[in-house]
Order: sequence, then C-alpha cells, then structure tokens
Amino acid sequence: PKQQTLAVIKPDAMEEHRENILEEIRGSGFCVTQLKEMVLSRQMAEEFYKEHREKPFFSQLVEFMCRGPCMMLVLTKENAVEEWRAMMGPTDPDQAKATSSSSLRARFASDILHNSVHGSSNEQHAEEKIRFIFSDISSDTEPKTD
Ligand code: CMP
Repeated sequence: PKQQTLAVIKPDAMEEHRENILEEIRGSGFCVTQLKEMVLSRQMAEEFYKEHREKPFFSQLVEFMCRGPCMMLVLTKENAVEEWRAMMGPTDPDQAKATSSSSLRARFASDILHNSVHGSSNEQHAEEKIRFIFSDISSDTEPKTD
C-alpha cells in the first residue's frame, strides 16, 4: 500500500542543493503530493521537534531550523517512510560517508546538526507532522515569518 512521509530540505541545503535533492526525489519514484517553502517560526520549530526537547542540542536545532527557508514536502510511495530515510542516510554525515556514501547526507550535509534533510521516523510521526505543517491552507501561498 502507498504510504506518506514528511520530508524537509533544511536551511543549510536550500541555496545550493535544493534542485539536486528535488530531482533525486522525483527520480526515485516518490510522488511529491504537497510542497511548500516556508520560514519556520521559533514556536513552530519547537513544536515540530518536541520529541527532542530534552536533548542538549535542542536550542541549537531550533535556531538552525529558523534561520532561513525550508522546503516541506509530502512524499508518497510504497514504504515511503523507510525509503526516504534510506535515501537520506544516517543523521551524522560522517557516519553516512562511511556507510552509505551515495546518500543525500553523505554528499550534502556538513555536520550532525546541519544535516541538509529531515524525514519522519515512523508512520505515526509522518501523519502528525504532515497535519502540523500542511493544515494551515493560507500558508501555501504566504511563506511564514515570525
Ligand atoms: P533530524 O533527522 O531532523 O532529527 C533531529 C535533528 O537534530 C537531526 O536531524 C539533526 O539536525 C539534529 N541532531 C541530532 N543529533 C544531534 C547532535 N548530537 N548534535 C547536534 N544536532 C543533532
């Protein structure tokens, strides 16, 4: 059965790698069913990453995700959650370079924080995050700022 996942092109990858990443997504058989560019507010970034609230890197993560536009995508494919995670590669680009050198993070990410792309970790998160990011219809045309 078809599955959906939320993919994010993070601020560090938007200028130089966005087109590359979009091309690879489409070339890998994902259907991009929703897409929008937006600047996350601090509040939205905190909510989006609430599962990481207690982590030592949380404030850095929120800061980073708000520093410029992100591209938000809903990807549809069989087994989309796992397939997108495999395409991204490990969270840490050093590990990605060692174990999956063709992955997006191996090629485009600069460090474990600035790691170019995000993907939902399971189906339940995917549904929740898609609803969170795409429920506000007005933001389809108006990029959000604080
Ligand atoms: P992502 O897959 O979007 O999920 C949580 C994010 O937190 C992760 O990608 C990185 O951007 C960041 N992150 C994870 N681990 C660390 C870490 N040890 N130090 C700094 N940032 C991290």
